[in-house]
Amino acid sequence: MNKNFYITTPIYYPSAKPHMGHAYSSIVADFFARFKRIQGFNVYFLTGTDEHGQKIQRAAEKKGMDPLSFCDEISKTFRDLSKTLNLSNNDFIRTTEKRHAESVQNLWNILEKKKEIYLSKYSGWYSVSDEAFYSDDEVEDKKGSKIAKSSGSPVEWVEEESYFFKLSQWQDKLLKFYSENPNFILPSARKNEVISFVKSGLKDLSVSRKSFSWGIKVPSNNDHVIYVWLDALTNYISALNYPNENDKLYKNFWPATIHLIGKDILRFHAVYWPAFLLAAGISVPKRVYGHGWILAGDEKMSKSKGNILDPIEIIDIYGLDSLRYYLAKEVSFGNDGNISQEKLESCINSDLANNYGNYCQRVVSFNEKNCNLLIPKKDSFTKEDLILLDRFKVDFNKLINHIDNQDLNSYMNFIVESLFAANKYFNDQAPWNKKSDIPRLNTIVYVSLEIIRKISIMLYPIIPSSSLKALKIFSIKEKDINFDSIKNHNQLIVNNKINKIDILFKKIDNKND
Ligand code: ME8
Ligand code: MG
Repeated sequence: MNKNFYITTPIYYPSAKPHMGHAYSSIVADFFARFKRIQGFNVYFLTGTDEHGQKIQRAAEKKGMDPLSFCDEISKTFRDLSKTLNLSNNDFIRTTEKRHAESVQNLWNILEKKKEIYLSKYSGWYSVSDEAFYSDDEVEDKKGSKIAKSSGSPVEWVEEESYFFKLSQWQDKLLKFYSENPNFILPSARKNEVISFVKSGLKDLSVSRKSFSWGIKVPSNNDHVIYVWLDALTNYISALNYPNENDKLYKNFWPATIHLIGKDILRFHAVYWPAFLLAAGISVPKRVYGHGWILAGDEKMSKSKGNILDPIEIIDIYGLDSLRYYLAKEVSFGNDGNISQEKLESCINSDLANNYGNYCQRVVSFNEKNCNLLIPKKDSFTKEDLILLDRFKVDFNKLINHIDNQDLNSYMNFIVESLFAANKYFNDQAPWNKKSDIPRLNTIVYVSLEIIRKISIMLYPIIPSSSLKALKIFSIKEKDINFDSIKNHNQLIVNNKINKIDILFKKIDNKND
């Protein structure tokens, strides 16, 4: 079994400060990266910023800054956000780095040498906001101006000399590739969109621009800069030191296990990117997963709509792990999801403060009063004990396998149900009524502690720092966490000391209560 796992987020445009949508993609990618690490995989997790093109050049001009200083400033806010979000990324790539430019030019040279690129003239629509070319039938009138139907972004007419990539020649090969690799595009509803787009006929793609200069130069013709999407997509291999194919990173991690992206940029990842790679003779990533949008009300959350919940503000108020948990649980992964501060608060109160945090406190303080902060000796398990403990055997195995299909929601549901079952168990078994039956009292405490340990390990990919705080009860450190230990019910060593911990999550006072 290949034990390497390479996951990427989109590289974000540093045209404006990061928002909740960016945070969402990054948090979910971090979940998968941490999950695979504690499953024993060798994980590489990449994120970064996409800094060339007209969109960035114009944003810099608006601020009266040169594009690189502008990018330096905003790229830093994305890098800072990756720390604020406690991402476990192994690298942060900027497309303005030399290592990246060399890699892109190398790919360009191969495509040119293979006669996959030719010089001609582009005339058609271009959206600077999407950095995308649109055909006439993809554009419509709105209040006297032209917009792209799919994104609603304004488009402008462009006529200029341009290099073209022979995308039209890849139509059948792409369709064959999709049918041979049915899980290349997920969720499957999105796969159908892509396939019908490709079936409708692919035109050659403009891959250079001449009317502005902020980009990587076409090596053989410095009047042109390379189209920003050809530039940006290459980040996934430039970060692995492509074209040095003997490099350890490239050898271990390419092709990528999964490019996690939003559905807005599916065409670039599922059509253009594999076509570029196939044309250059480079292997194609194993999966592109296009998740849905975070909505505020009914609209896609975005800066231009002014409906941003600022991730930094939310984290300042509620803490990072509350946000990470909420996004993972509340949004049905793959679909659009509405979020609100109100729902975030009730999620914190019910799941995190009550069912998880308070449960940990109750069990430990009961132990302190009755078992001297030691792991008690257990008697034989009753039916009730085993029902709870065995959740983490058969069902758990199935669940773990589902994660390889990015089934984040089943995983979250399992945790929510387990927490519910654990609280019910503790209340029903009522160890405080068992003071005349110490072996039974001890067994209930043992089982309850085991459940804290198992659930806390399961929560690690979602809320890493709170999970580690809880695992301090057992002196379990980050490097000791692994999924195999969850299936075992005899991991706690009798008479070992346990530790009291601080409150994990504070309840939010709801003024409406
Ligand atoms: O497209 N809900 O960058 P970008 C969920 N530079 N996710 C959202 C979101 C929302 N409301 N808004 C943004 C680009 N995202 C290119 C990518 S990759 C080679 C180049 C997330 O700054 C989602 O992952 O516009 C989306 O695909 C990405 O941010 C777009 O970020
Ligand atoms: Mg965008």
